[in-house]
Formats: sequence, structure tokens, C-alpha cells
Amino acid sequence: MTDPSARLTPVVRLAPAKLNLTLAVVGRRPDGYHALHSVMVPLALADRLSLAVLPSGDDTLHATGFDPGPPKGNLALQAIAVARSVVARSRVPTPPLAVRLEKAIPVAAGLAGGSSDGAAALDGALEAWGADIDDDRRYEVAARLGSDVPFFLSPGASLVEGRGERLTPLHGIRGDHHEAPEPPGILLVTPMIPAHTAAVFEAWSNGAMAEPGTARRTSEHFASEFGSGLTVRVLMERAGVLASANDLWPAAVSVVPGLLELRRRLTRLIGRPIGMSGSGPTLWALYPSLDEASAAAEAVRLAVTERTLNPPGDAPPFVAATTILTEGRDA
Ligand code: C5P
Repeated sequence: MTDPSARLTPVVRLAPAKLNLTLAVVGRRPDGYHALHSVMVPLALADRLSLAVLPSGDDTLHATGFDPGPPKGNLALQAIAVARSVVARSRVPTPPLAVRLEKAIPVAAGLAGGSSDGAAALDGALEAWGADIDDDRRYEVAARLGSDVPFFLSPGASLVEGRGERLTPLHGIRGDHHEAPEPPGILLVTPMIPAHTAAVFEAWSNGAMAEPGTARRTSEHFASEFGSGLTVRVLMERAGVLASANDLWPAAVSVVPGLLELRRRLTRLIGRPIGMSGSGPTLWALYPSLDEASAAAEAVRLAVTERTLNPPGDAPPFVAATTILTEGRDA
């Protein structure tokens, strides 16, 4: 067994964001969580974590970019602590780790950046210690950390059910002639007002609901289509129906003032269907390529600068062009 404290180079992990292409809330569970039916894809937009072994002391966190909030609630640090308690039983040494976190994903935005950091830290800590735990244990630990964390253990397009822990891998996105496609582009616009998941689900429970069944039907149909292999062309054709298949939209609108108006104005500005990821407030639009998404991002930034688009929040919105990660899950 190698001595982990002798490791000289930090372990580096990318922690991708996720996007919900559909999100149906299909019921309330006995444990208080909500049962979901959602098609989720990982994005090229990613946080970056590096984990270095320390000779002594406590785990530390140094973050740059978006403020991840207090270390106490940080999922990367929590993941390391849980991993340590699991590994301790096997007597592999688990020295403290210094985590450097470059946060490129906005926080409390519906993109699951914090959950992805947790999954990346779990995997990275095990590697830094030269330790391993079996897959079932990994998924159990991940689900304990948060509903969105299991998705990131092997991020790839997935049907997500239960409270987030039941994952069915979906085929990747392909070109019309089965060639590897140019990855579809995504425009992201995140107003700088956090939408806390618990608050949005609570608003849903208090009656801020969409017409029941519509998002579910779309989600089921799309998941089965995606399950047998989806082309970029078909994905684009589905953009309109996907954009209106998020059951948390009315709840997010009730929690984030100005979100409804922002979506209306964005639709007019870019002339494409606009959806919302997760519990929001990130809004998205689908494009056949990164170039087209980048041109749309430029148009949105210009409109913000010229004040013809005035998103809610104390600071200008996060506006980014990225792509869906289409490569195999082992890539
Ligand atoms: O699992 P996680 O800690 O990320 O969830 C945050 C909160 O969001 C939960 O406390 C719960 O209120 C709500 N939630 C839910 N149903 C889900 C996922 C999250 O009600 N499937």
C-alpha cells in the first residue's frame, strides 16, 4: 500500500453542471421528499477541484469564483468526511486534504454545482488516499450527501427517478448518420438571485403547481426516445415541448421575483423556447452548436449592458454558452 502522505501531486477532478431537460414532480414520498421523473444531462460547464494531502491538521477549503458559502455546509468537505469514516474501517490512512475549488457554476442555480463538487470530492479523496469502496457503497454515500449527487458518480444522460437516486443511463446523442455529433449548444442565463431547492419544493407543496401530468407525459416520452438514441436534429425539434416540461416552474416563479418577466423578454430577444433547469432560476435554450449558443450569449450580454434586458438581482446575470457532454460515460 502506498503512503498517501507521500503523494506529491494533487488529485484533480472536473465537476460538471447538470441540466434538466424535463422535470416532472410525480408525488410526495413518505420521507418528505418529492418523487421525480427527469431527464438530466451533464454539461461542459464545470467546477474544478484539486485535492492535496496535508501532513496534519483538518481538511481545508479555498474557493475562487462563485462564492460557495460557508465551509460548514460545503458538500465537498462533507463528502471527504463521510468518505473518511467509511474508509477508516479498512485501516487505510486518510490524512487531511487541502481542497482548492474553482467555482465556475453559479450557486443555488438549478445546475447542481454543489452536488457535483460533492461527487468529485468523494472520488478524488479516495484516489488521494489510495483507497477504494465498492460501487454500491459509493452510491449509498452519494445519496446520503444529497439527491443530485448520485447522478455525478458517472455523469451521462440519465433518466432520474425517486428523489434522485434511481438512475437509468440513456444512450448518448448521435449525429443523423450515427457519426459522433457536434455537441449541442446550451445558452444559460442565471439571474443573481439564489433559488433554494427546499423553498421551491415547499412552494410547490403549497399549491404553486403546473397542470398535473403534462410534464410527466413529455418526460416519459422523451426518456423513451432518448433511450433508443437521440439525434441532435430530433433534440432541436423537441426544444419547445421540453422547455415547458418543468413542474417546478410556477413554484420557482413564486420564489424568484422577476423570473416570469425575464423568461418572456428572453424569448422575445432570442426567438427560441426557454426552459428552466431544476428548481431554477437558471433559464436555458438549446442550439445545434456551441457557436450558435455563443452568438446568443453575446446578444444577451449586449442587451443587459444596454439595459434593454433587466434581469432581477443585485448583480448582472451569469450568461454562458456551453455544450451537453455527449461522450460515453467512461470518457
Ligand atoms: O437532497 P437535497 O439536500 O439536495 O435536497 C434539498 C431539499 O430539496 C430537501 O430538503 C427537500 O426539501 C427538497 N427536495 C425534495 N425532493 C427531492 C429533492 C429535494 O423535496 N426529490
